Amino acid sequence: MDDREANTKPEDSSLESILDEHRECMRFVAEVEACLDEHPDREGRWMGRLLPKLEALAGTLRSHFQEEEQASLYREVPERFPRFADRLQRLASEHAEILDRASDLVRRSGALDHTRIHELREFNAGVQMLVASIRRHEAEENEVVLSAHWQEFGEGD
Ligand SMILES: [Fe+2]
Ligand SMILES: [Fe+2]
Repeated sequence: MDDREANTKPEDSSLESILDEHRECMRFVAEVEACLDEHPDREGRWMGRLLPKLEALAGTLRSHFQEEEQASLYREVPERFPRFADRLQRLASEHAEILDRASDLVRRSGALDHTRIHELREFNAGVQMLVASIRRHEAEENEVVLSAHWQEFGEGD
């Protein structure tokens, strides 16, 4: 096989770096979750710690999604393994959706009345739902990465 042919295959290092980035994203997700787990009596306090962590998570995701869309997972894998194409298209469309939801939560946080516990609880639930979507999204991508990897380097195609 010559170099040109080798370049048409998804690069293992690129797929591996996505798994590494996902581990990094999950570190930011875990920090957000740690704030959400605070006792209800301290709801006003978790907001103060949550917001910078939520903003950090949103910033990390923004650059992660941009890099990911240029990586072999979204550029080469759908061509090489068409059975993943629809799933990857749906996952790619979730990037903007997830970023919009994160930005919306950050924006809404400014208008929250911290004395109204039900507003804080609703906000907390919104962040939990966002975090669940991020975990599910990245887990689905990991599944595709690992399947593509095994097809490419394990059992062949
Ligand atoms: Fe993604
Ligand atoms: Fe990802």
